[in-house]
Amino acid sequence: MTVKNADRDAIAHGKITERPLRERPKFPTWALKLTMAITGLIFGLYVLVHMIGNLKVFAAPYADGGHPLNTYGEWLRTLGDPIIPREGALWIFRIVLLVALVLHVYGAFALNKRASESRGKFRRTNLVGGMNSFSTRTMLVSGIILLAFIIFHILDLTIGVAPAAADVFQHGEIYANLVASFSRWWVAAFYIIAMVVLFFHLSHGIWLAVSDLGITGHRWRAILLVVAYAVPAIVMIGNIAIPLSVLFGWVG
Ligand code: HEM
Repeated sequence: MTVKNADRDAIAHGKITERPLRERPKFPTWALKLTMAITGLIFGLYVLVHMIGNLKVFAAPYADGGHPLNTYGEWLRTLGDPIIPREGALWIFRIVLLVALVLHVYGAFALNKRASESRGKFRRTNLVGGMNSFSTRTMLVSGIILLAFIIFHILDLTIGVAPAAADVFQHGEIYANLVASFSRWWVAAFYIIAMVVLFFHLSHGIWLAVSDLGITGHRWRAILLVVAYAVPAIVMIGNIAIPLSVLFGWVG
């Protein structure tokens, strides 16, 4: 349990203080961490599957001018038909993702507040060096950038609200919307930067989740360390290829 003790100097000098421990929070810290881990893994799985679906952008257009990316979008909307109504399955995914996102963001701010209360005036020390430490320190900031990205992205390619979306946006024309949007260099650049941020956030997030889920075995940790970097790297490379290809005129 995290101890809030305003007088750590006293303890450091061998003096015992009578100050009370921090009040027990209503929602325990371990439960918050577990919530973060599970909702984060849901998002990790989503971005991997979403990236694989996005790669349909590289498929050849049909002879009639249609595109496999649009067919894929239509398939998502009619998933489970006729048992599930049109867009029913899509709305279930959307609700699960939204709940996961709200819980994840709430958990991030709540944990951050508890951590800084517990640290008091003391700074974090003994962080492992290099990229790991960089990711650790920037989790909150990279998370906020990703939240901004998700809002922009939905306005851009799902709802179609300018200036996030291109002027020519039309519902159902997923391929044309995507090409029109990424033809604007600043949008392509924003997506590319967001995917690098996603790599740092997701790789460190998966690794944190491994610990928070209590996986301590040597062999499993060695395997999952590779997974923690490989999956986000694949997501980043696959996704970045899309705006880059539009920008260079290879797709469009
Ligand atoms: C270059 C990278 C990406 C591309 C090209 C891309 C492409 C798309 C496209 C074309 C759609 C609209 C699909 C449709 O209308 O059926 C979409 C929707 C969406 N994307 Fe992405 N995406 C990318 C990255 C991401 C990332 C990293 C996330 C999550 C952090 C994400 C989350 C979403 C969400 C939540 C939706 C809305 C789905 C819905 O409710 O219909 N995307 N994306």
